[in-house]
Amino acid sequence: MSTYGDHIADIYDEPGQTPEDADEAAAFLWDLASSAAGAERPQAMELGIGTGRVALPLAAKGCEVSGVDCSQAMLERCRAADTEGRLRLVHGDMTTARFGERRFHVVYAVFNTLLHLLTQDEQVAAFGNAAAQLAPGGAFVVQVSTPDSALLHNGQHVRLFEVERDYVDLNVTIHDPVRQHLRTQQMFFKSDGIQMRPLLQRYVWPSELDLMARIAGLRQAARYADWTGAGFTGASTEHVSVYRPAEAG
Ligand SMILES: C[S@@+](CC[C@H](N)C(=O)[O-])C[C@H]1O[C@@H](n2cnc3c(N)ncnc32)[C@H](O)[C@@H]1O
Repeated sequence: MSTYGDHIADIYDEPGQTPEDADEAAAFLWDLASSAAGAERPQAMELGIGTGRVALPLAAKGCEVSGVDCSQAMLERCRAADTEGRLRLVHGDMTTARFGERRFHVVYAVFNTLLHLLTQDEQVAAFGNAAAQLAPGGAFVVQVSTPDSALLHNGQHVRLFEVERDYVDLNVTIHDPVRQHLRTQQMFFKSDGIQMRPLLQRYVWPSELDLMARIAGLRQAARYADWTGAGFTGASTEHVSVYRPAEAG
């Protein structure tokens, strides 16, 4: 299972580490969950909940949010941030974790969380696990980057994010086209030493995700370029895709 969370938890919530889209994501997910819930209290479940970056603003809107993560370090931070005890948290694998008989109006995996599953079989299993836990009218929402051609080109890539007098933030990436793996080392050079934050992901094209959904009995119902609902185009660097049970029509 991925060790990403354990390697990043201590700095995960620092500025610049994550996208500033949590409130927009929560608003999008709240609209979907509350319209499916009708008179019931909306229920949501996050795969790879991390420190609660999106789950906490979603819970603040009135959603009952459950979440699974394989990193105890991330879950500890999430528990500490959940000062009002709103979240139901489980330590486990997003391909198998269940919350008893509970069914969800929205299940979601955001900020490339699905890419932490390193084989196609595991990614399909996550779709299957999400599909099995949807309430009637529910949806599975996935946010992932579209593969970055700069990272896929030539098998390796170096990207420099910041150079200061006593600080350098440098990423190096190796591409394995057979496994569709991008293995990145995020390196922080400081005057007191070097910190390394490893990241290994299996990238997927939107079309492959749609096939995984079909294998899990879902169909793509909508695809956007971001949480505001902007149209997805060939220039989009990420997508927010909404999947619904195929029999829902
Ligand atoms: C990029 S972080 C996203 C965290 C959070 N969803 C957010 O948007 O900030 C990915 C999360 O997925 C978790 N993760 C990776 N593989 C997992 C697995 N197989 N099962 C459960 N969680 C996993 C990591 O520990 C990490 O917390």
